[in-house]
Amino acid sequence: MRRLFPLSAESPVESPVESPAGAPTGSAARPLGGPSPVEDREWTLEELAEAYAYPDLLPGPDAGPGPEAAPGRPAGVWLRANMVSSLDGAAHHDGRSQPLSSAADMRIFGVLRGLADAVVVGAETVRQEGYRPARAREPFAARRAAEGRPPVPAIAVISASLDLDFSLPLFTEPLVPTVVLTGAHAPAERLAAARAAGAEVVLAGEGTRVDPARVVAALAERGLTRLLTEGGPKLLGQFAAAGVLDELCLSLAPLVTAGDAARIINGPGLMEPERFTLASVLEDAGFLFTRYRRLRQEGNNRL
Ligand SMILES: NC(=O)c1ccc[n+]([C@@H]2O[C@H](COP(=O)([O-])OP(=O)(O)OC[C@H]3O[C@@H](n4cnc5c(N)ncnc54)[C@H](OP(=O)(O)O)[C@@H]3O)[C@@H](O)[C@H]2O)c1
Repeated sequence: MRRLFPLSAESPVESPVESPAGAPTGSAARPLGGPSPVEDREWTLEELAEAYAYPDLLPGPDAGPGPEAAPGRPAGVWLRANMVSSLDGAAHHDGRSQPLSSAADMRIFGVLRGLADAVVVGAETVRQEGYRPARAREPFAARRAAEGRPPVPAIAVISASLDLDFSLPLFTEPLVPTVVLTGAHAPAERLAAARAAGAEVVLAGEGTRVDPARVVAALAERGLTRLLTEGGPKLLGQFAAAGVLDELCLSLAPLVTAGDAARIINGPGLMEPERFTLASVLEDAGFLFTRYRRLRQEGNNRL
């Protein structure tokens, strides 16, 4: 894996020089000691965790803007999305994202979970991808314990129908209770089934559906402020429309699928395209791991 952006002024340029025998000898400008940031090598989980730290965890002048309160939204909460797309914009192949993924993508997927307080996911993704409870991963479990946080993020499932199999390990065997977010008028017997399975039910909407902005606020009220959504595209479309999506970690897979799979964000178009700024790009085996942050909008205090 290599960092393609941002590169500091001190970043060496990997320009192979010829040895007298004609064999490449690597960088002409490698600093003494320590790996080059553009060197192609496997990154440790700690390095990836540092690269993907939530903004409030990044001290110092290079931290960039921290989370701020938008109207009706608690301060200090940050909603990041992690999605993978083919070159031609498909968010899945035959209903699964796995064919678009790679070992490095799954490594970053695990790191993002390791950093998060809650993983917010739409019910269709839970059903299609066969979601299981989050598992404790080193070194995150130790780091989280030191911070007084549970070993894994809570999985927070968004559903109106509650057409979910509550006998699955996702609900019966998680290390921390799975949260089910739904509307106040969700089917009563399904609500009872969710609670009986051990899920924490949160009502975040007046009808059967949730209000996406209330999802963020309700989780923040429970101390879950480092939020990660893994989609799917329909849920992400609602977060984007509600203006609560702070960051998009987009993995671009070097694959073309054609077909009619949804894009990573699906739903009614926004009134105005929302502007994001590039925060970082990593590369591994032709995959680009990009991270974009939403730009502060004039007239409000969103980032
Ligand atoms: N490329 C990627 O990184 C990626 C990531 C995730 C998923 N995917 C793919 O995306 C597909 C699934 O995504 P999707 O867009 O079809 O569905 P989705 O966003 O995962 O889930 C949609 C479901 O979430 C619930 N929901 C959404 N908004 C709601 C609201 N406001 N209130 C209450 N419930 C709400 C509803 O569940 P109920 O029907 O239960 O009411 C709805 O049917 C799969 O093929 C998956 O493989 C790809």
